[in-house]
Amino acid sequence: MTAPQIKPATGAAFSRILGVGGYRPVRVIPNAEVLDWIESSDEWIRSRSGISERRWAGPEESVAEMSVQAAGKAIAQAGITAGQIGGVIVATVSHLKQTPAVATEIADRLGCGTAPAFDISAACAGFGYGLGLADGMVRGGSAEYVLVIGVERLSDLTDTSDRSTAFIFGDGAGAAIVGPSDTPGIGKVIWGSDGSQRDVISQTQAWDTAFAKEDAVNGVGDEAKWPALRMEGQTVFRWAVWEMAKVAQQALDAAGITAEQLGAFIPHQANMRITDAMIKALKLPESVPVARDIAETGNTSAASIPLAMERMLESGEARSGDLALIIGFGAGLVYAAAVVTLP
Ligand SMILES: CC(C)(COP(=O)(O)OP(=O)(O)OC[C@H]1O[C@@H](n2cnc3c(N)ncnc32)[C@H](O)[C@@H]1OP(=O)(O)O)[C@@H](O)C(=O)NCCC(=O)NCCS
Repeated sequence: MTAPQIKPATGAAFSRILGVGGYRPVRVIPNAEVLDWIESSDEWIRSRSGISERRWAGPEESVAEMSVQAAGKAIAQAGITAGQIGGVIVATVSHLKQTPAVATEIADRLGCGTAPAFDISAACAGFGYGLGLADGMVRGGSAEYVLVIGVERLSDLTDTSDRSTAFIFGDGAGAAIVGPSDTPGIGKVIWGSDGSQRDVISQTQAWDTAFAKEDAVNGVGDEAKWPALRMEGQTVFRWAVWEMAKVAQQALDAAGITAEQLGAFIPHQANMRITDAMIKALKLPESVPVARDIAETGNTSAASIPLAMERMLESGEARSGDLALIIGFGAGLVYAAAVVTLP
């Protein structure tokens, strides 16, 4: 008697991004407002980071609300219904309720039926991590369409008295629908981590430590300070410039694409100077348009790549069908890069 054999799942031959959408909070915070919090100057912030303003979410613009808005646009562009979505992946580090996953609320509000829904914590590489998972799900046959969201309310985790971070972070959401394709639309995702550098960007203290201290001092004084994001700016800067250009090149090589063939370069909007250094290291031809959404959006971590992608498509800087190199990197440290066909 032959041993019983499991019938394997069968998926699509290839996958691609079918739609992208973003949500930007209403409130604009210009550099002038940041100068009320820290000793700095508009000139310093612009020249060191490329940021002139960022958006901060109001009370109604929750992680879930911003995600639902962004996802609605991505679903419409993909030309599918929410009911066809077979997986919802939400990349975020700033949803302050640890459980349940915010993905389940988003799936429910969108009308995704019983689709599996979960959050991932991969900071500024979160969108790339989500894209890699979605590509595997579509090709592996566990879902036909997957919704990938990168969303942050980093304003909740920003210490406005910290000169090295107060001007950098912003809020927003970006979403993409990944689905089946007749031709390859997502190259091999080059992803990884370096946990030996886990302390270079991190929350100042774990929630349990924060609340224990709050108990100890009855909720008053410095010890009870809400955990915020802390960053060793120069260490991150050097790592990003030296190591991430290599990862971006690996993504190009794995996809069999040269820099000249790109229609867009969409790096994580961490810092304009990091972007400029990567352009040089990759020897990117001047003809390739580069995402510079950070100027008006700040660093929105997991949301930054889909937000920048949407802006490039809307402004006509990049076109549907163009090849784009995306790369995210940040707290962990973690990274993810891939060549994708723009929706
Ligand atoms: C944060 C960052 C802009 C700081 O720039 P930097 O050149 O490294 O700044 P340093 O901390 O070395 O400080 C340099 C000088 O600027 C001053 N400075 C620091 N923060 C300042 C601020 N907000 N405004 C004005 N001056 C500031 C310092 O006091 C120092 O002055 P000194 O030379 O007189 O001592 C930079 O390190 C950076 O961009 N890092 C990468 C951050 C990033 O992209 N993170 C996201 C990854 S996901």
